[in-house]
Amino acid sequence: MYRKGFFIVFEGIDGSGKSTQIELLTMKLKHAGIDAINEQEPTNNIIGKLIRDYAEAGDRYLSPEVEALLFSADRIEHSKRILSYLQQGITVICDRFYHSTYAYQGASGVDIDWLKSLQKNVIKPDLVILLDIDPDSSLIRVSGRNLTIFENNSYLRKVREIYNELAKNGDLVKINTLKPILEVEKDVQNLIEKLINIKLF
Ligand code: TYD
Repeated sequence: MYRKGFFIVFEGIDGSGKSTQIELLTMKLKHAGIDAINEQEPTNNIIGKLIRDYAEAGDRYLSPEVEALLFSADRIEHSKRILSYLQQGITVICDRFYHSTYAYQGASGVDIDWLKSLQKNVIKPDLVILLDIDPDSSLIRVSGRNLTIFENNSYLRKVREIYNELAKNGDLVKINTLKPILEVEKDVQNLIEKLINIKLF
């Protein structure tokens, strides 16, 4: 499986600043002449749309195992598209990937090993950045927009805990986001420069 582009993922609870950082990084990469594209999960494809409708409807009636299967199914299809970009030399920056399933569905008590087994046919990122924030602050940031069924304080606390556990194992690289955006941006930039071996401005 020959890949020329890099595959970078941003993770974090809702309101952690992923979209802002993804936008800033994409601009920087493009400025440095690197072809980069943004992706997100749930996707805009058929399964992703189904998940979005469910997540925005306000009632969490599916069992977390079924949620995990849907998110993972969306991801297997998504992987094919990501791989084709990478093979064309395009760098992919993705808002959420399989660590979201570990953290969000894991927070509902789903067995992590089973969740991991669902990702066997999924492409592996080159770097996963965790933007860490406490739910009290993150929920203030997202107030004013419609919340998904996953966005409540006590649940996001568990989600954050699992993310942090995974970061301890070296699965993700954690950045503390309770500081000015420019400082978070600098931390992200340092990680990317190390990965792609190019100086960014
Ligand atoms: P969305 O509003 O699209 O995401 P964001 O808040 O990042 O813009 O909603 C996606 C929701 O789905 C989000 O609350 C996290 C959750 N989610 C999971 O529970 N499991 C997963 O595997 C993924 C990818 C997302």
